[in-house]
Amino acid sequence: MFIEYLGHAGFTVSQGSTVLLIDPWPSPSGAFDGAWFQLPCNHHLASATIAQLTGARHRHIYVSHEHQDHFDAAFLTRLVPLQPTVLVPRFRVAGFGDALRSLGFEQVVELADEDMVEAGDLRLRLFVDDGALNRDSAILVDDGQSRFLDLNDCKIYDRMHHIRERFGPVDILACQFSGASWHPVCYEYPEAAYRHVSRRKRLGKFRSVGEALALLGPRRYFPSAGPACFLDPDLLALNFEEEGIFPSSADIATFLRKGAVAAEVDEIMPGDVFDAALDCFTVRGPVRLTEVMRRPYIEDYARRMATTVERLKRTCPPATAAEILDGLLVALAEKLQHFAPSSSLAHDLYVGLFELPDRFVHVDLGRRCAVMASALPEDGFDRVLLPAWQVERLLDGAIGWADLTLTFRARIRRVPDQYNTLVNGFIVAEPHELADLVARVEAFRSSVERVVVEVDGAPYEINRSCPHQGADLSYGWEDAGHWVCPRHGWRFDLESGGRCHMSPDTVHALRVDAEG
Ligand code: FES
Repeated sequence: MFIEYLGHAGFTVSQGSTVLLIDPWPSPSGAFDGAWFQLPCNHHLASATIAQLTGARHRHIYVSHEHQDHFDAAFLTRLVPLQPTVLVPRFRVAGFGDALRSLGFEQVVELADEDMVEAGDLRLRLFVDDGALNRDSAILVDDGQSRFLDLNDCKIYDRMHHIRERFGPVDILACQFSGASWHPVCYEYPEAAYRHVSRRKRLGKFRSVGEALALLGPRRYFPSAGPACFLDPDLLALNFEEEGIFPSSADIATFLRKGAVAAEVDEIMPGDVFDAALDCFTVRGPVRLTEVMRRPYIEDYARRMATTVERLKRTCPPATAAEILDGLLVALAEKLQHFAPSSSLAHDLYVGLFELPDRFVHVDLGRRCAVMASALPEDGFDRVLLPAWQVERLLDGAIGWADLTLTFRARIRRVPDQYNTLVNGFIVAEPHELADLVARVEAFRSSVERVVVEVDGAPYEINRSCPHQGADLSYGWEDAGHWVCPRHGWRFDLESGGRCHMSPDTVHALRVDAEG
C-alpha cells in the first residue's frame, strides 16, 4: 500500500483499486473559528485528494471523531458526489454518524470497538475510545502484506499489549506527539509554573509515544495529528513557546533517537508518500519545515491568512455582551438539568466575558443552580473568561462546548490549582452528553479492581482504573518514584498513598509486604 501524508492527522492510503482517506483536513478556513490552521499549510492538496478518490473503484473515508481538525465538514461536502463509503466509530452518545449523513453521504457505516470491514483491497479495523471526556478512535489498515496503525490523537496507550497480542504486529505507527487541549495554554499560571506544566506535559506525550513504539515494535513511526498552528494575532505566541506543548516533529524525533527506539522516525510533510511494500519514502511535499525556518514560515503564513482570520473572528459591542451573558446563564442552567452526580460535588464555577469584567455566571455545582454574581470568592473556584463573540457563536449553535475550549481564546483561573474531572466535563460536554459522562466517571471510580505495580523496587497495590478517565493503570510505568498513567500522564505518588500530582484524586496505594 501507498500512504500519502495529507498534513495534520490526514492520510490517503491506496492499494490496487482502493483509496481510503483518513481525517482529511485541507480547508483554508482552518478549524475552531480561525484558531487552528494546518502546519505546514496543506491547502494545495485538496484538489489532488479529490482527484485520487475520484479515480478509485473502491472509495472510502474514515473520520476518527468530531473535532473539526479531523471532521472537516467543508471539505467532506465536496466528496459527497463521489458516493464514498464513510466509516465512523459508534459512540455511546449517538449522533456522529448522523452528522456525516447530514452532509449528504448515503453510505455511512458505524463501527463498534474492534469491528472489522473489508474495504476493496484493504481490511480495516477500528479501535474506539469512548471515555468520559474523550471520544475518539484509531484505525488499523491491513493490505495483506503490511499493517498501518493510525492512532491519530486517540490515546489508547493502555491497549497496546492487547492490540499486538490479539491482532498481530504493526509495521507502521502514526500517532500524535503534541498537545491539543486548553491546559495549560489558557490557564493563568505564573511564568515559571506555566513552563513547568508545559514541559511536563510535553515530555509525558513523548514518553507515551516511546512506550507505544516499544510495545508495538513497528519499523516506521510517522509523527502526526499535530501540532496545529495558530495564526490569530492573539494566539500567535503559542507557536513559539520553548518547551511548550506544541513541539515539532524534529523534537519528538530527537527524543526518540536519544531513547534508541528501533523504529525509523520519519519527519513527514504534506504530500510525502510511503511505499509500504518497498519500505521506501518519496519526498514530495513542497515545504520541508526545518527548525530554522519554522518561525519565519509561521509569521509569513499568518500574514497570508490575516484576512481569513479577521473574517472568522467577530467583535461584539458591550451592549450586546450583556445579552450574551444572559444567554450564557440560560445555557449553563440547562446543562445543570442534565448534571446530577450521585455524591455531592461542592464546587463553584464562575463563567464570564472579557467585555464585562465585573459580572459572572456563578454555577454552584453542589446546589445545582446558576445565578449572576459580581465578585469572585477568595478560594475554592474555577473562573473561565471568554470573548463575547465566541460565546455568541456557541449560543447560536455554530460551535459546540468542546469547540469553544479548543479555540484557546479562554482565560482560566483555578484556585487551588487542582483538576476535577466532573467540573471539566461539565464545561466541555454538550447538555445531552452530561448524564452519560457522569455515569461513566462514577462507574470507573467505583470499580474495586486492584493491581500490583512496582515503584523503586517496592510492590504496591493500587486501583486499576485511573481516576482521570478510567485508563488501565496496570499498563502504566514508573518514573522518578511515581506511577504514571499511560493515557494522559497523570502521576501518582505511591509512597504517599497514591495521591495524584494535579488533583485530589488517589489510586489508594498500599505497600505490599514481602509475604504478600
Ligand atoms: S486516564 Fe487520563 S491520565 Fe489516566
